[in-house]
Amino acid sequence: MPVLPNQDSIRIYGSLEVPGDKSISHRAVILGSISKGTTTINNFLDSEDCMRTVDAFRLMGVEIKKSGNTLQIDGKGKSGLEEPLEPIYFGNSGTTARLMLGLLTSLPFSSLVYGDSSLVNRPMDRVIVPLAKMGGKFIGRKQTNYLPIALDGGNLHGITYHMPVNSAQVKSAILLAGIGAKGVTKVIESYPTRNHTENMLRAFGANIKVKHNEIEVNASGVLRGTDVYVPGDISSAAFLLTAAAIIPGSSLIIKNVGINETRSGVIEVLEEMGASISIENKTVVGGELLGDIHIEYRALSGITIEGEIIPRLIDEIPIIALLATQAEGKTIIRNAEELKVKETDRIQAIVDVLTSLGAHIDATEDGMVIIGKSTLKGGTVKSYHDHRIAMMAVIASLITEGNVTIDDLSSVSISYPSFMNDLKAVIQKA
Ligand code: S3P
Repeated sequence: MPVLPNQDSIRIYGSLEVPGDKSISHRAVILGSISKGTTTINNFLDSEDCMRTVDAFRLMGVEIKKSGNTLQIDGKGKSGLEEPLEPIYFGNSGTTARLMLGLLTSLPFSSLVYGDSSLVNRPMDRVIVPLAKMGGKFIGRKQTNYLPIALDGGNLHGITYHMPVNSAQVKSAILLAGIGAKGVTKVIESYPTRNHTENMLRAFGANIKVKHNEIEVNASGVLRGTDVYVPGDISSAAFLLTAAAIIPGSSLIIKNVGINETRSGVIEVLEEMGASISIENKTVVGGELLGDIHIEYRALSGITIEGEIIPRLIDEIPIIALLATQAEGKTIIRNAEELKVKETDRIQAIVDVLTSLGAHIDATEDGMVIIGKSTLKGGTVKSYHDHRIAMMAVIASLITEGNVTIDDLSSVSISYPSFMNDLKAVIQKA
């Protein structure tokens, strides 16, 4: 772990862009690959997870050219996809797994899919149950709750599904199956989850209606390739925003960040804790809202984070927990039991890392309680091979008294390969 200078001597200062959004990059590859005509994806996130989605379609015969962060997909429509002759490897990517299970179930051939040692332990019944109701046939490990899974696709019919978990991956899997099913497919959400699939289906010409918490698709015929610009990933930006929020004297601008309200819970949390935050130059591209986020350091206080905001900041909870250690008073995070089935059990991982750095934090059944403000100390921590835990520990190391050693930073390439360089670029000696 490279030793970064510590907060007595630094501030976070300057302006930069973070790489493209992971969720939107996956969806652009999926929709481009099942459409007819050319799709060009600009500002694609060139990361481990997104490349698993690209490789899945290459295995089905789709020609995808990559030049830096631009992808060009020569779409031949769904009927142009070929039966994969090898098992499809989803690596560490839950989004690839859930969304591709939805799509593959609608295709008239068999496939076998698997993942890395983390993904094979993440639940798949959340997508298998509704997809089986639509007519999909599956066999997999432990009553088909876990990968590897073999499936036999085609001949689906629409369903109405009340989602038992607040998951955009589940919603998207059902919608991707639904556009290839007979009749109407309707998904009903309790709380809004990220809606990039809906926005992008519309941009590619699918038959989709959204009314409050109900999303309806019909068999959509042929989708047409289009150009996609991927906004900066707010989940990556959150690490740098937090660094600025906890280091006195900081002032940082992150440009062209996706601030779709189904993703921007972290901005509301920063504001409510007392950070000075403003958004300039708002624009809409491909149905997605973008803006430049300007944050300046201010003293923070603890808050309660629960209910409908949770799905809108679920991936940011590791870095929000660090933020809370620097806020005066108590921060409570509730209704976040989904953290237990992410790349690792994130409730346990967050509490473990922050406790060993001297924070006052306790795990609860569905979240955690953090008492601030704490002076953090150095130490040796495990990243659990989880990208968001590793990046949280790096940001923590900026404010610890003493060095932090992290066992492994390689997981950072899953979502934010240029993280260390971007961070160093905005660290300034005070
Ligand atoms: C994602 C949805 C979220 C999120 C994941 C990406 C997506 O998962 O945690 O990193 O792209 O749809 P769930 O929808 O399962 O909560």
